[in-house]
Amino acid sequence: MIPLRDLPEFACDFQPLRDSWLADEARVLTALLNDCGLDQEAAAEVDRLAATLVQAAREAPHPAFQDFLQAYRLDRREGRTLLLLAESLLRIPDAHTRNELVNSLLVSADWQAADRAAPSWRVEWAGKLLSRARRFVEEEDVPDAWHQMLLRLGDGVMRTALGGGISLLARQFVMAEPLPAALAVRDHSFRYSFDCLGEAAQTPEEARHYRDAYQQALECLANHQSAGRTDLEKDGISIKLSALHPRFETARWMQLQTELLPVLVHLVSFAAEAGIPVTIDAEESERLEITLALFAALHARPELKTYEGLGLAVQAYQKRAPAVIDWLHGVARRSGRRIPVRLVKGAYWDTEIKRAQELGLEDYPVYTRKVHTDVAYLACARRLLKQPDSFWPQLATHNAHTLAWLEVVARRLDRPFEVQRLCGMSDSLHDAYRRLSGRPVRIYAPVGDFNTLLPYLVRRLLENGSTQSFVNLLANPGIAPDILCRDPVATVRQTQIQAHPGIPRPSALFAPRDNSPGFSLSDVAGLQALQRRMLDFRFEVWSIDTDTDSGL
Ligand code: FAD
Ligand code: 2OP
Repeated sequence: MIPLRDLPEFACDFQPLRDSWLADEARVLTALLNDCGLDQEAAAEVDRLAATLVQAAREAPHPAFQDFLQAYRLDRREGRTLLLLAESLLRIPDAHTRNELVNSLLVSADWQAADRAAPSWRVEWAGKLLSRARRFVEEEDVPDAWHQMLLRLGDGVMRTALGGGISLLARQFVMAEPLPAALAVRDHSFRYSFDCLGEAAQTPEEARHYRDAYQQALECLANHQSAGRTDLEKDGISIKLSALHPRFETARWMQLQTELLPVLVHLVSFAAEAGIPVTIDAEESERLEITLALFAALHARPELKTYEGLGLAVQAYQKRAPAVIDWLHGVARRSGRRIPVRLVKGAYWDTEIKRAQELGLEDYPVYTRKVHTDVAYLACARRLLKQPDSFWPQLATHNAHTLAWLEVVARRLDRPFEVQRLCGMSDSLHDAYRRLSGRPVRIYAPVGDFNTLLPYLVRRLLENGSTQSFVNLLANPGIAPDILCRDPVATVRQTQIQAHPGIPRPSALFAPRDNSPGFSLSDVAGLQALQRRMLDFRFEVWSIDTDTDSGL
């Protein structure tokens, strides 16, 4: 808990961000719609390009994991079971508990039903195996001792098979381990941003481990760059600040300035000297203000005053995103240096919704409709493209319509930008895009072992498995290209703009009863107001009147 007298004092003006933190979804989006309209000719060009990209991507071979996510969908029990296994199996240390988990999860799903819809022989076989295993676990006709013995024998096989399957899945999204191995297999026609898979350090030792991993990665990159590239074109690294301090939270702002900032200065100064780009990833929305405050402190360091490689990821699904871009524009203008901004839609959507509900916030910090995030992304991208003196736009997406829109708008504005994608995702779509546009593509490439991969893996499975997600729909041959590439701006304009009715605001979660209001410990303005209200009671003397019957 923050001792209220020690509320963080940021040297930055975050008021505009705070005004839009939990703002009304319809109001925020209506303001953005005007920023992303296209004339008819441009809109038709976007449609054509998106259709070409989709066709090329669908004609190319796709990775096997997509078949699994089509058959075992995350909106069904089977998909959620696989997600649970992926999240937990590899980090359970003992075989007995792993077996118990596998057995309990096997009986909870109908693998045969999923296998009936299987789009490939791999899924069909996996479905058969899983349903046999389920019958085996449930077997009632054999004597108990015999069953127990068979179970024990089968457990090892099943556990090994499932563990192997999940490791295979993980390998899809990790480039290699360690970094030198990744560097040896990189394709020099791409740019890379390597990520050491560190996040949410729990102890100072863990934070030190990640700091060393990033330092070693920088040293390795300094010696192994592709020839003939400018600094911004070079391979770089992506860092999650939560990996570098075990208490990366607003309440610890004072501590972060003395403990985390020096670590960052050290790492980024090394990168600056070697001309290596560094991007600070965007994490949970509660960490946004401290991330920005640290970014500003770093950007202002005299030893970094000629370095243009310090970039930041901005999540368009946050209602604050346009205000964040305006704020960064101010930082860039004051320093006279461009800021590389990696625009993403955001990978923590489910967490954000759940967290706001848990905290009983007034509203959500993110949009509740996917199409609203799409529109916000386009509006933010245009804002970046229109201010080339302040930003180097790095536009990260796997969505063909989004890519086509960016291409057409950037061409009309005559602005350069870099496209980015994640390792193991949307390879064929980006290959086709690269051939057609000639733009540079950077791959976000995690390197590291499975122990640290799991949160990243779960986000990738959610992203690939969600039926809202472009990559999931692209892998579903039943979805026609024109449905897949519907223009989000036109879609929003045709409807009344409103938050999703199926996701009530946290305050209305138990309607008609009001939910008790809560607050976030990252809401500095809210805490300041609470502090003022507490002062009113400072000299209040409370006494219990024992003579009066309380009626309780
Ligand atoms: P789409 O399918 O078009 O969009 C999916 C996205 O829509 C979801 O991820 C979510 O943001 C949003 N969405 C889904 N459902 C809803 C809903 N009901 N309401 C509102 N919005 C919804 N993410 C981070 O958070 N931080 C990072 O630092 C980061 N770095 C990245 C770096 C690179 C190079 C890349 C490619 C991605 C990075 N990501 C990061 C992940 C990124 O956020 C997701 O890959 C991205 O959101 C997927 O968007 P899309 O355009 O590819 O796909
Ligand atoms: C994530 O870790 C890629 O930063 C993004 O999900």
